[in-house]
Amino acid sequence: MMTKVPVAVIGSVNIDITIYTRLRPAAGETVLGWQFNHFIGGKGFNQALAAGPLVPTTLLSAVGGTEHSDIVEALTDKEVETQDLKVLEETTGHAFITVTPDGENSIVVVPGANEHLKPSDIRPSLDITQPDVVLTQREIPAETVAAARRWAEENSARYALNASPVAGITAEDVATCDPLIVNIHEAQHLVEHDPRETTPVQMLTEGLQRLTRSAVLTAGEQGAWAIQANSITYVPPEPVTHVVDTTGAGDTFAGVLCAHLALGDSLIEAAREASRAAAEVVAVPRAER
Ligand code: RIB
Repeated sequence: MMTKVPVAVIGSVNIDITIYTRLRPAAGETVLGWQFNHFIGGKGFNQALAAGPLVPTTLLSAVGGTEHSDIVEALTDKEVETQDLKVLEETTGHAFITVTPDGENSIVVVPGANEHLKPSDIRPSLDITQPDVVLTQREIPAETVAAARRWAEENSARYALNASPVAGITAEDVATCDPLIVNIHEAQHLVEHDPRETTPVQMLTEGLQRLTRSAVLTAGEQGAWAIQANSITYVPPEPVTHVVDTTGAGDTFAGVLCAHLALGDSLIEAAREASRAAAEVVAVPRAER
């Protein structure tokens, strides 16, 4: 028998193959990197890892058998409950990541087992753990994300969506988010501004305010905005002396934000804590996190 778990993260686990390179290749171009490493990642994994040390957290995810024990060990190390990991005869998701010396990353994900996490896999676990906050992203099937949202609506839990990747997300997906967590690019997509044009932040925050119950707009070194029905509050960035690797910083933000919401903090307080945590993460190489 299980007791209540305040935060349930429903999302991906990937093996991240991270390549360190001076230049990111353009179409048709070959460049040399100097190193590559394997890390366990995935937005669901990273978010659960960030929330776990702050508040009891469970990760609902689908992984392949080969990596299962390493994934369980890494999660258990950060106090994340792992009984809801589904082990499949599929390859664990893989992410192919380039990181340049300025710490910026670009990522291609091959979902693998993540694609097989079904609504029927998550409902029984949610019924048992009765989370106060349900956090999802979009590296798992849309129907599973929708099932998580519906469960939260039916059980008066707080539903948080990190709309990443943003393609295919509908108005219905975001309407009951509390909060929706997006970066500038994702916000532009959702409020239907041409991403090739610079959109004033005010347009984005007001657009998000119309779309959803609450939202947090993150903009890295520009800070973040906590958006609620009657207020839009700027959360200044935490200083970072040297950015090493931005991979997973948005996930740390989302995980810490939801952990603090589950602890009863306001959206603004939670966004400040999340901002601090994300600033710490970008200054640390992934191997040392
Ligand atoms: O947000 C960073 C994560 O995106 C990486 O860990 C990678 O797996 C992709 O899911």
